[in-house]
Order: sequence, then structure tokens, then C-alpha cells
Amino acid sequence: MKDPRPTLDRARFLLRTAVWALCALLVAPVLAQQQWQPIAQDGLRDPESPAVKLLQQPAEALSKLAPDTAGNQVRWVKALDEGQIAPRTNLRETTKVQTYERDVFLNLYGGMPVIRFPHRIHTLWLDCSNCHDHLFKKEANSNRLSMFAILQGEQCGVCHGAVAFPLTECGRCHNTKREDALAEIERGTVAAGGTLPKKAALPRKKAAAKGESQ
Ligand code: HEC
Ligand code: HEC
Ligand code: HEC
Repeated sequence: MKDPRPTLDRARFLLRTAVWALCALLVAPVLAQQQWQPIAQDGLRDPESPAVKLLQQPAEALSKLAPDTAGNQVRWVKALDEGQIAPRTNLRETTKVQTYERDVFLNLYGGMPVIRFPHRIHTLWLDCSNCHDHLFKKEANSNRLSMFAILQGEQCGVCHGAVAFPLTECGRCHNTKREDALAEIERGTVAAGGTLPKKAALPRKKAAAKGESQ
């Protein structure tokens, strides 16, 4: 009878190779992203275009800025705060530049940590009209925010995961302990916003009062 061992060894070898190949496939995009693709290979621009030779390479421009471990590997808020970049605020002289300092706490009633929504940071990059009122009404507690909608690319997800840091960075939004948030609201420095709990979760004052009178 033929010895079955060589076939078994080969099967084992093939299996091991397949597992390594799968791991390499999964890891490759992560590594590639960390290294900034050269312009001719980024799959976004026509590699034949003469402009490709004129443009600055992302690695040359971005490696000098505050590093990040997510998205395009630049901590943009830090780069701006430390003066590493100084983008123009307006193209037309008539455009009024406005910032807003008061932060808003969101998710005060959820299981995940509270979100301190930084108005100042957003208005350094954006105009009020980028969010108000088509994405969010300009009033605390007046929007039905939801992580589900955000993951679908709505609300915060219009920008986060597209042009701002990605949604995998949970702690960058869910960034404040509930007791710290409640203490700051007491002091009146931050607006208490976000979605109010569903009726069922609110204290049943009315129902209790009704029960008493009956
Ligand atoms: C860009 C900001 C942002 C990021 C990043 C983000 N969230 Fe949220 N999350 C929100 C907002 C806004 C709400 C809704 C707040 C409200 O209802 O007031 C929310 C609500 C939630 C809720 C429902 C409320 C609760 O606490 O039970 C869960 C669960 C949640 N997020 C989990 C996550 C997880 C897990 C991640 C990371 C994978 C994540 N979020 C990343 C902004 C974010
Ligand atoms: C119109 C676009 C836009 C929307 C909508 C938006 N953001 Fe942002 N956000 C930005 C940009 C741009 C930055 C700065 C660049 C970056 O950090 O990637 C930023 C930065 C932040 C930061 C600061 C990160 C840091 O490094 O300190 C937090 C926190 C944040 N956003 C939370 C939210 C939450 C929560 C929502 C939804 C309630 C939201 N954002 C909606 C564009 C947006
Ligand atoms: C990136 C999106 C974004 C931008 C840009 C933005 N806001 Fe907001 N704003 C929000 C969110 C989210 C809330 C919270 C809504 C809620 O609680 O339901 C809010 C709430 C508010 C509130 C009510 C809370 C409070 O502080 O009283 C005011 C007022 C406000 N914004 C003013 C402004 C002004 C003025 C600008 C421009 C200088 C601006 N916002 C730019 C997202 C934004």
C-alpha cells in the first residue's frame, strides 16, 4: 500500500500557506494606509497625468505634521493648534468668519461615555451653516441623534469616517465620564444636549400623579 504521509504533509503545508496568505491579505491594507501611498499609486488619480509629477507627495507633506494612528495618520486638530498649518479662513472678503466656544454634552443618558462635542474645534474648520440647521437644529436637545444613523453616514457620520477622523475611534467622541459631565453642567459652562431618553425611561411623574388621584 502507498504511504499516505506525503499527501498529508502536503495538505498541511497548503493549509498553513493559505492561512498565512489570508493573514497577509487582511494586514496589507492597514500597513499600506500607514505608509501614505505615492500619488501615482493611490488609485484616485490618473498615473499618466503630467500633474502627478508636479504634486507634492503625501508622505513628504504629512509626515511633518502631528501624528495620529487612525485615518490619514495626521492629528489635524493638534496640527492646527500648534500652528503647523495655517489654512485660509475665507476665499471672499465678504465672508464673515465666526467661531463658537460653548461645548455641548451629548449622550448624557446612554451606556457609553458622554460625548463632549467641541464647538470651537469644529468652527475653526467649518462654518455654522455646514451643520446648522440641515444636520442639527441649533438648540440643545432638539435632535434625535443615533449611533446607527452615524454609522450609516448621517449626522456626525457625514464628516467622520469621510473627511474627519474615523468612527472606529470611539473614545475620541465618547470622551467624558458621566459624573464629570454632570458636574460641569451644574457649573453652567457646557450645554446639556443630545437625545433625551425615551418616555419610558423618564421618571413617571404624570402617571404616578394620575395613579394617586384615582
Ligand atoms: C463622531 C463621533 C462618534 C464616534 C467616533 C462614535 N460615536 Fe457613538 N455616538 C455618537 C453620538 C452623537 C451618539 C448619540 C448621542 C445622543 O443620543 O445624545 C452616539 C451614541 C452611541 C450609542 C448609543 C447610546 C449609548 O451610549 O448606549 C452607542 C452604544 C455608541 N454610540 C457606541 C459607539 C461605539 C462602540 C463607537 C466606536 C466603534 C462609537 N460609538 C463611536 C458619536 C460617536
Ligand atoms: C461638517 C463636518 C463635521 C460634522 C458633521 C461633525 N464633525 Fe467632528 N470634526 C470635523 C472636523 C473637520 C474635525 C477636525 C479634523 C479631525 O479631527 O479629523 C472634527 C473634530 C472632532 C473632534 C475633535 C477630535 C480631536 O482630535 O480632538 C470631536 C470630538 C468631534 N469632531 C466629534 C463630533 C461629533 C460628536 C459630531 C456629531 C454630533 C461631529 N463631530 C460632527 C468635522 C465634522
Ligand atoms: C460640526 C457641526 C456643527 C457646527 C459647524 C456648529 N454646530 Fe452648533 N451644534 C452642533 C450640535 C451637534 C449641537 C447640539 C444639538 C443637540 O443638543 O441636539 C449644536 C448646538 C448649538 C447650539 C445650542 C447649544 C447651546 O450652546 O446653547 C448653539 C447656540 C449653536 N450650536 C451655535 C452654533 C454656532 C453659532 C456655530 C457657528 C459659529 C455652530 N453652532 C457651528 C453642531 C455644530
